[in-house]
Amino acid sequence: MRCERGISYQGLNFGSQDYLGLSTHPEVVAAGHRAIEQYGLHSAGSAMFGGNTPPALMLEKALAEHLQMPHVVLFSTGWSAGFGAISGLVRPDDHVVMDALSHQSLQQGAAAATQNVSRVPHLNNRAMRRKLQEIRARDTRNGVLVVTEGLFSMDSDVPRLEELQSICHEFNATLLVDVAHDLGALGPRGTGSLGVQGLLGKVDLVVGTFSKTFGSTGGFMATRSPAVRQFVRIMGGPHIFSNALLPLQAAVVLESLRIVRSEEGEALRAKARENSLALRGAFLERGIQCLGEPSNVVPVPVGDPKVARLASKLVLERGVSANLVEYPAVRVRDSRFRVLVMSSHTPEQVRRAAEVISGAIEEAGQWLKAQPARPSRAEAPAQARLQGEL
Ligand SMILES: Cc1ncc(COP(=O)(O)O)c(C=O)c1O
Repeated sequence: MRCERGISYQGLNFGSQDYLGLSTHPEVVAAGHRAIEQYGLHSAGSAMFGGNTPPALMLEKALAEHLQMPHVVLFSTGWSAGFGAISGLVRPDDHVVMDALSHQSLQQGAAAATQNVSRVPHLNNRAMRRKLQEIRARDTRNGVLVVTEGLFSMDSDVPRLEELQSICHEFNATLLVDVAHDLGALGPRGTGSLGVQGLLGKVDLVVGTFSKTFGSTGGFMATRSPAVRQFVRIMGGPHIFSNALLPLQAAVVLESLRIVRSEEGEALRAKARENSLALRGAFLERGIQCLGEPSNVVPVPVGDPKVARLASKLVLERGVSANLVEYPAVRVRDSRFRVLVMSSHTPEQVRRAAEVISGAIEEAGQWLKAQPARPSRAEAPAQARLQGEL
């Protein structure tokens, strides 16, 4: 069920970030119930002021083990983890160099910390190297933080992280990777892009969220340094000045993480991958090449925002919910559907989604092409005069 402009629509959900369906898994739900019974509903304080509960402490330990990063700081959302880690660690004279498509939480964290923020073209390690070289040629004293993601969720593409980490070390820079969309959903035992690229425990800083694969909301930063952890706990505003993760959330994420790491987790990821490949194949049969690599995110390019808006309306009316992504999330003429696959989708549902979305894009394009060309702004007054309107 989805509501748009006060109208309820019922149909297939291809817009959910609950990638493995863990938010409704019976064991996850039971863990949530137990936590409510045992600890109540509220954390009732920031993590620094009595808000930490036993499930939150157990979650810190379990995540540390999963990521092979011994020190973890929890936040109440993924947004505040990225924002808090960057704005807490970076001082005004430091530099932040970001992949140009980094998430807003990371961009705003950087903007809050320093005016020395640069963006390099998406996934371009060469450009990153040049930028770091340029910064180090004039400043060897201050810190440089390099920011990227484990899986970019508007494009479903992945940086070459090992190369990026070694470029960072070459220039005495620190690498931060936001694993919001890949942790739990991809990689051996759900270790995400870091696991796939053999980098568990090897990058400097990892931030992420529980709001995609882990059945709840919340976020974290992980590090190998106890001093960095302590610094972020105190200087990362949303950790110290915002109420802690609820015991319910922590217990749900903890149980989700147990499943993510289990055989069942492997089977759920395999099913999601099968669905992702089938969906991409079904779009290709209809002449649409989806962007990026197989993941739970399947970006379907549309381009023209007018076609995209109209197609989005048709898609919803025909019983499929898939998010339309427009400016400012992507460039103005790069509108796209961000179709999200879950392990629980059936092959029939996957086929239906591809049929409805590709059909709507085609129909919207044809309808708009058939409309009489509208005069440009410059021509409009002259044309109106001709028609006796002025
Ligand atoms: C890369 C990335 N980081 C952080 C976030 C924020 O996560 P949350 O929704 O848990 O605040 C998102 C959410 O979409 C994201 O895509």
